[in-house]
Amino acid sequence: MKIIAKDRDGKETVIKGREGWTIMEMLRDAGLDVRAECGGACACATCHVYVEDGWYEKLPPPSEGEVDMLDMALAVQPNSRLSCQLTCSEELDGIKLTVAPE
Ligand code: FES
Repeated sequence: MKIIAKDRDGKETVIKGREGWTIMEMLRDAGLDVRAECGGACACATCHVYVEDGWYEKLPPPSEGEVDMLDMALAVQPNSRLSCQLTCSEELDGIKLTVAPE
């Protein structure tokens, strides 16, 4: 599967996603500015992304923990998610994301 990700400058990168890994790991490994301070434990919100172009609705709903963490994040939008809580899968092939401001 592939992930189409935009960084904060609007530069688009197409990243190959590895099944079963989190989208946060893919973004970070591709060099995007996703700090992911808690390493994917849903405890920092520094992996915050906006899910674009209708992809938000296709994702499994956020857990209670993710909703709580997003409450504390900055610049939250209706399409905000924590990328460490999203797992790469064929169903998400072509997903579009933008890294949220810090
Ligand atoms: S990496 Fe910390 S919440 Fe996602």
